[in-house]
Amino acid sequence: MNKINKDWSMPSLKEAQKRTNQQVAIEKTLFNIPTEALNIGVNRKFYLRTYGCQANERDGETIAGILIQLGFSQCEKPEEADLILMNTCAIRKNAEDKVLGELGSLKRLRKTNPDLIFGMCGCMAQEEDVIEKIISKYDHVDLVFGTHNLHRLPILLYQAILARERTIEVFSKEGDVIENLPVKRFGAHKAWVNIMYGCDKFCTYCIVPYTRGKERSRRVEDILNEVHQLVADGFKEITLLGQNVNSYGKDLEIRGGFAYLLEEVAKSGIERLRFTTSHPWDFSDEMIDVISKHKNIMPFIHLPVQSGSNEILKIMGRRYTVEQYKTLFDKIVAKIPNVAFSTDIIVGFPNETEEQYQMTLDIVDYCQFDNAFTFIYSPRVGTPAASMEDNISLEVKQQRLATLMKKTNYYAKIKNDRFLNKTVKVLVDGPSKKNKDVYSGYTEENKLVNFTKKDAKPGDILSIKIMEVKTWSMDGVIEESE
Ligand code: SAH
Ligand code: SF4
Ligand code: F3S
Repeated sequence: MNKINKDWSMPSLKEAQKRTNQQVAIEKTLFNIPTEALNIGVNRKFYLRTYGCQANERDGETIAGILIQLGFSQCEKPEEADLILMNTCAIRKNAEDKVLGELGSLKRLRKTNPDLIFGMCGCMAQEEDVIEKIISKYDHVDLVFGTHNLHRLPILLYQAILARERTIEVFSKEGDVIENLPVKRFGAHKAWVNIMYGCDKFCTYCIVPYTRGKERSRRVEDILNEVHQLVADGFKEITLLGQNVNSYGKDLEIRGGFAYLLEEVAKSGIERLRFTTSHPWDFSDEMIDVISKHKNIMPFIHLPVQSGSNEILKIMGRRYTVEQYKTLFDKIVAKIPNVAFSTDIIVGFPNETEEQYQMTLDIVDYCQFDNAFTFIYSPRVGTPAASMEDNISLEVKQQRLATLMKKTNYYAKIKNDRFLNKTVKVLVDGPSKKNKDVYSGYTEENKLVNFTKKDAKPGDILSIKIMEVKTWSMDGVIEESE
């Protein structure tokens, strides 16, 4: 099984890097189920495990939607499955190691079920070094497909399951926009809506522009149709998704860009509207105005800063300075006074000096983020930063991360303290796994709240009085229901 089959389509990071001015195709009929794949899933179960960001979560819903149309049913345990699919993330090495470890350990299930099919998809499938490893060392993996060819899943499954051919098909292209893909929403009251795909920022450390293709927007009317359907179906919260939502519509020359779209979606009447991720570089004043004007746009912004040093930001290719970031931050706070912020920070970028690192601590002191996702830099094959020489030891990097986390956790707690004895609105997710009487949900500012109420329903928006504040969550009691 170790030879490359001439029918396979292998990934190429070099191809994936290319960008042209060609208009992206908007495909309304590309997805269909060929006759040979009809009912292929009847009496078969699939187990899907998704890693990584919300873009992958949303892709998981598309994959599940396709599989259900093919007759599969979903199961919660890999032991029960006829098809195991790993929907993977390539953002850092530890994310990849986790998947490879899991793939290795699940191989044992073949012994009890020789017909079990193993599939891998998502961002790792777009990397050639990963696929080489899969071909040579993971010969139990029968099916690999990437982020650009979800619509081909029926025929690929036919090849892997019925024709019993090891199937690898990964496209490394700029990508298109496919509008007729099925979806199985995993949530009953919270939904993801893609507004665009891909990324053209090419931050020097990041693999996403290679695994997800060119930045390309969906049309406003297609997005609004999806949103109106979700509202009609009783969804309470929508999160608009893009690697950089601020760039929305630039490729289609949509006047007003993301600010315009955000306002149109807010007018749909959805109770809670969120969006992620917004890059600090092109966050417009119009966006801030729209957020402050509409009560159903939640006062919570994920604004990744990455570093507090201008020199590092420049080498990262982030296109803003610390001063510009602070100006934007202050402007948002001035217009949306109750706003909460989260951020992403990388420590240990190649050759980051102690002084540059201290500047990252300084920006954290300045912004006092409600929440921060902190990472040690991880070299990604094919990205510019991966070829930069690095003279910082892992020990120093780990120390820097630990000190940074102490600080970000300190501010997370302080930011939660402001809610003590206050009443907040919580969208209920459901009962806790451990104790059925304890429910949890999120406030408008995206704070996790636990509370006790026997008959709370997922999807309710309840007023909860906060009685105790912790770093990652708050405990409250019910005040009234609406
Ligand atoms: N589009 C989003 C980021 C998606 S990746 C944005 O620009 O904000 C999520 C986060 O992972 C990034 O913000 C960054 O902090 C981190 N990240 C990306 N590549 C990384 C790498 N090679 N090593 C460590 N962290 C990385
Ligand atoms: Fe990666 Fe930068 Fe694009 Fe975010 S904006 S996905 S960090 S390249
Ligand atoms: Fe990971 Fe791909 Fe998202 S690399 S973070 S799953 S875009």
